[in-house]
Amino acid sequence: MSRIFPPIAAALLALAPAGAAAASDQPDGAEAYRGACAGCHGAEARGDGPLAILIAVPTPDLTRLAAAAGGRFPRWEVIHAIDGQTGLRGHGGPMPIFGALMSGDMVLIEDPGQGLTAVSARIVAIADWLESIQRSD
Ligand code: HEC
Repeated sequence: MSRIFPPIAAALLALAPAGAAAASDQPDGAEAYRGACAGCHGAEARGDGPLAILIAVPTPDLTRLAAAAGGRFPRWEVIHAIDGQTGLRGHGGPMPIFGALMSGDMVLIEDPGQGLTAVSARIVAIADWLESIQRSD
């Protein structure tokens, strides 16, 4: 998976230092969230989407992920929760329900565990948007 487009990666990394909003053609994370996540996690990501009551597993509030992780937004855990590597039951287990999110542009970003890794640009945009709405109150 990793080191697929080194020149593009270098350009993207230059434009987008860890977690920051990147080039103007980056997918809109808020919009992608509304389309793929809000049904369960809620419009404000507080775990209260209309489908949440249909699922046996409680749907978490996604605005407190940083607070739960000691103040640091767990960017990679969020990315892997979406891309299926975590195998969350609420996301369809190891065959995630977000195939459409993973088509489209990929970006290379630094995974602390694996080095440069290709990730769907839309998934990164969703993770960045979620990071922007974290709260501690
Ligand atoms: C079908 C309903 C559903 C959809 C759609 C959904 N989720 Fe979830 N999500 C869940 C449930 C239920 C859990 C609880 C964990 C589990 O499955 O055991 C969860 C867990 C998570 C977690 C882990 C939270 C934690 O506390 O560790 C993250 C992050 C997450 N979802 C992000 C997303 C994102 C981003 C999207 C959109 C791409 C999304 N989810 C779409 C139902 C959903």
